[in-house]
Amino acid sequence: MPHGKAASCTLLLFLSTLLSTLLSPSALARTYPRFSRNDTVFQHLALHPDPSVGTVYVGARNHLFQLDGLRGLRLEQEEITGPVSDGKDCFPPITETSCSHAGITSNYNKLLLLDPYAQELITCGSVHQGTCQKRSLASIKKVIFSTERPVDTQHVAANDEHVSTVGLVVRPHAGGRTVMYVGRGYTANHPPISTRHLSSEPVFSYEETAKLAVAGRLAEYDHHFVSVFTRHSYVYFLFYRRDIQAGSREYRTYAARVCLDDTSYYSYVEISLFCKQGDHLLGVFSSRLSSSHSSPSDPSALCVYPLEELDLHINSTRNLCYTQDGRTDRGQEIYPTALLSDTVSQNTLNAYPCGSDHTPSPMASRSPVEVRPAWSTSASRLTAVAVSVREGHSIAFLGDARGALHKVYLGQNGEVEVYANTVIQANSPISSDLLLDPNGGHIYIMTQNAVSMNIK
Ligand SMILES: *[C@@H]1O[C@H](CO)[C@@H](O)[C@H](O)[C@H]1NC(C)=O
Ligand SMILES: *[C@@H]1O[C@H](CO)[C@@H](O)[C@H](O)[C@H]1NC(C)=O
Repeated sequence: MPHGKAASCTLLLFLSTLLSTLLSPSALARTYPRFSRNDTVFQHLALHPDPSVGTVYVGARNHLFQLDGLRGLRLEQEEITGPVSDGKDCFPPITETSCSHAGITSNYNKLLLLDPYAQELITCGSVHQGTCQKRSLASIKKVIFSTERPVDTQHVAANDEHVSTVGLVVRPHAGGRTVMYVGRGYTANHPPISTRHLSSEPVFSYEETAKLAVAGRLAEYDHHFVSVFTRHSYVYFLFYRRDIQAGSREYRTYAARVCLDDTSYYSYVEISLFCKQGDHLLGVFSSRLSSSHSSPSDPSALCVYPLEELDLHINSTRNLCYTQDGRTDRGQEIYPTALLSDTVSQNTLNAYPCGSDHTPSPMASRSPVEVRPAWSTSASRLTAVAVSVREGHSIAFLGDARGALHKVYLGQNGEVEVYANTVIQANSPISSDLLLDPNGGHIYIMTQNAVSMNIK
């Protein structure tokens, strides 16, 4: 469920495993509307918030595209965003004197977000310190705002093709202003998670407290973000990272939750997610592991985590911290160990559901949420998932590294059945931006240089 676009109370992740089911995709699908370009690489896909408008936006290397989803993905607008003169450690605006070693640099699209409140498209590239623009939804060529002389809190996306960045535009409940949550992997001296304002100057900037504070070296918090989504009054981030607490420092998968209205991150709690097959404890998203790690035959599994269970675990993490100094009979469970004063009681937990300045932050639990894989395959590495929830069952659409789409039926009582495989584009990984239109019957599938709109 990358970017949380599928309305679902279940969280589906895919984790690499050591299983051996074999599936051979069949039936080429060439009859669906399709847009392709062979002179660039696509990074992100987004849909207009109003399905009756039907516009489809594509963020690519050095290009943005606007397609008409109601007319067969016809190209409506194209914007050239690069290459530009840039240097990784230079601060824009780039000039001969400010950046003498600047070179011609490709601009990868790092964020492509809808702001449904302002009816704008937000685009952030890998160049010029990951700064962003606001564009008209009617025409991507119409730039409403562009960060030209950024202060360093206006650097948003990772300024590196390979470093993950995720974002979400939300409006806090308390009638507040729209904000943009951003998660970015480590590149330089920037917080891994921050809350940016969109309507006050400097636009796209964050306040001093509106970021995840880290204990220790920032470089340790090298998160590989997979998605961010909102549910009820919370924002959730999914990512993997080396386990900082463990001696082995192995990669683990994490979910973090913060209250939507919390601009100080007092409510931040992080838990790890395990998917257990036999003796193997698995904790790595297969989707964004660097390609040097993975061959096309890497096995993957679909692991389903009910969000109620994550919430329960996060609640009990807070509870343990408030009432038992984060300890159980298994030892220290909650980090950091700088805990609460004696005066804080169970009442405080309920009185401050989103924490307060007395709360140790960021809070992290050692004990994971564990599930077993719902489905697995060794035919190919899974790279994308979207879920359609109907009464009593769900359909998971899974994209893989070989360019195939799998449809998997997930019944209420754990029944699992694969009932369709389609090759979208042979040997081109399906992008994690796999989107279902909210009320229509379509699924938008993106590969490295094609977008297609198939029937669900
Ligand atoms: C790329 O697309 C153009 C236009 O469709 C076509 O003329 C060209 O041959 C293609 N190039 C490659 C390498 O496929
Ligand atoms: C978690 O705690 C909040 C209040 O702090 C409560 O509203 C919510 O229902 C709890 N969730 C679960 C799953 O127990």
